[in-house]
Amino acid sequence: MATEAIEDQRREIYEIAEALAPTWEARRDDIERVCAPVREWMLRELAPREGDTVLELAAGTGDTGFEAAALVGEGGRLIASDFSPAMLEACRRRGAELGARNVEYRIIDAERIELEDHAVDGVLCRFGYMLMADPAAALVEARRVLRPGGRLALAVWGALERNPFFGIVAISLVQHGHLPPPEPPGPPAFSMASAERTSGLVAGSGFGEVRTEEVSVAFEIPDVDEYLSVVADTSGPIGLALRGLSDPDRAEIRAEAEDSLARFAAERGYALPGVVLCAVAS
Ligand SMILES: C[S@@+](CC[C@H](N)C(=O)[O-])C[C@H]1O[C@@H](n2cnc3c(N)ncnc32)[C@H](O)[C@@H]1O
Repeated sequence: MATEAIEDQRREIYEIAEALAPTWEARRDDIERVCAPVREWMLRELAPREGDTVLELAAGTGDTGFEAAALVGEGGRLIASDFSPAMLEACRRRGAELGARNVEYRIIDAERIELEDHAVDGVLCRFGYMLMADPAAALVEARRVLRPGGRLALAVWGALERNPFFGIVAISLVQHGHLPPPEPPGPPAFSMASAERTSGLVAGSGFGEVRTEEVSVAFEIPDVDEYLSVVADTSGPIGLALRGLSDPDRAEIRAEAEDSLARFAAERGYALPGVVLCAVAS
């Protein structure tokens, strides 16, 4: 990607993070309910030990990192970081709520980490790399700050067609002209869905061993209004497009979403499957 395009994408992702931070924080419980299997996979594979220093990149409200903070104990340290000040403030509030004392909060751009070489024992990044304009540069940075033998655990969304939670409303919004059709190679949120591409990116960034695994998640949604509301609160450009709809446009998208959701009808509302690609590297 040309330098100018990289800067444009970085600015856009930054602005979206700043705009979404309040609702992302308000939806923390919902997000963690869906993403708990991913968080658990990442912590199991990172396997932090007492006394370790763990860096969480693109932390959002930080729940993945806070679990690492508990595992490394008082003698260890978590550096919870994000490039969005609004997200980092939300993370700080969550840390205070949990009473986490071994945490340092820092604004860090994962593509240019302001830490010494070999400064940390482990790096966590859940749903971050796929949004970055230059994930290869960010992965080189993660390798640089990791001590030799240190591990990186990451998670990115699987393919859009295997994640109907996003696909259902995204397709309607594009078809009705409320969201521009994604430019090749596709929407950033799904840019690392291929295990081959992700393994290649990680291996090409200086990691010797890479292993990927798909982790299934489940979205349990009581009704179509709650569905649209969670998407609007948490889902980047799709969410912002939904928020900007007029009442008649919203009614049209709502009707289409209701039709599409019907095939996921469950005992209470809807149950949507989802797929996350996780990777561990050292
Ligand atoms: C989808 S949210 C995920 C938040 C959290 N990791 C989670 O799993 O709940 C993406 C986060 O990545 C952050 N982010 C995107 N690009 C970044 C970059 N280059 N450096 C640091 N943070 C970044 C955003 O600010 C946002 O908080």
